[in-house]
Amino acid sequence: METKVIKIDDKHIDMELINQAAKLIKAGKIVAFPTETVYGLGANGLNEKAVEGLFKAKGRPQDNPLILHISSLDQLKTLVLEVPDIAYECRKRFWPGPLTMIFKKSEIVPYIITGGLETVAIRMPKNKIALELIKEANVPIAGPSANLSGRPSPTNASHVIEDLFGKIDMIIDGGDTGVGLESTVLDVSGDAPMILRPGGVTFEDLKEFIPNLTQDLGTIKSDNTIVPKSPGQKYKHYAPKADMYVYTGNIDNVVKSIINQSNKHIKEGKKVGIMATTETKDMYDKGTILIAGSRNDRNTIAANLFKTLRIFDEEKVDIILAEGVETDNIGRAIMNRMMKASGGKIINV
Ligand code: TXA
Ligand code: MG
Repeated sequence: METKVIKIDDKHIDMELINQAAKLIKAGKIVAFPTETVYGLGANGLNEKAVEGLFKAKGRPQDNPLILHISSLDQLKTLVLEVPDIAYECRKRFWPGPLTMIFKKSEIVPYIITGGLETVAIRMPKNKIALELIKEANVPIAGPSANLSGRPSPTNASHVIEDLFGKIDMIIDGGDTGVGLESTVLDVSGDAPMILRPGGVTFEDLKEFIPNLTQDLGTIKSDNTIVPKSPGQKYKHYAPKADMYVYTGNIDNVVKSIINQSNKHIKEGKKVGIMATTETKDMYDKGTILIAGSRNDRNTIAANLFKTLRIFDEEKVDIILAEGVETDNIGRAIMNRMMKASGGKIINV
């Protein structure tokens, strides 16, 4: 299949190009588009055939439901049975933005979107290109992350090209995404709102006005003793090709342990990648050392995490030794992705 790549500047949106992309969506084709979290792989969410194509292009298991991306509140109302008060409150604060909410689905939402569930995930993205595309297509756009299933999510168009060129109809290059990790998934369909996937909107942000907020422990325990409630969270995910180990605890111990392990592996003839931070990078001298971001501003680590994992792949390292972060605020989403990427190999030192 021929994949057309077009460039759109989110500060001066070329509506001609948006129109081209929207036409493809309306015709049941697949278009990758930027959002503020990661790139999405878009198709008409009400067209079962088009959605089937999404699963095929990504190689994604069909029991893993998709998010519908919308551009207005009116659109939301057609897709859900009810909008609970707490969802209105969340929408006021965080939409458009990196928050996905789970509602009871209406009849028009096909089961292929929900993986057979009676609930549906909905998000209004902040990225202007995404919003214009949804408006022009005039349908909810189903949008899983635009990576091959299992690989790190794409935070710029070159990642999408790497994974999906030749398998989809169009890629909109809108530059780097900002947040770098996928949206927070918040289930508002039951009695007590529950975070099913940590993301850009944090537990602390939500807890401020949702006193009975809980979080699915399956998303933070690394020992697989609790099965996560969100289907997507059960899979090994965001994974680089190399074996990955994440070290947590006192930072001096973390650095010492990484150096020890790295020396050992290098002696065995392995190529070692070290995921360091601005504050610690000078303490390492052997291996492929990449800086994910700053420990003093963990949003920078969130923004670069997936990109860093992809660079380790390009460098063909055999093993990745990564520094973990504290699990408050954005740190919870970072550690959730590191847990998945490493297949739960988190070592507390
Ligand atoms: O930031 C994001 O959310 C990105 C951008 C493109 O919007 N999208 C994204 O989609 O991360 P995806 O398909 O990679 O992840 C959707 C997550 C999965 O973990 C899935 O299991 C969960 O949302 N999900 C979707 N519908 C659900 C439902 N009805 N109940 C529980 N979890 C659901
Ligand atoms: Mg994904």
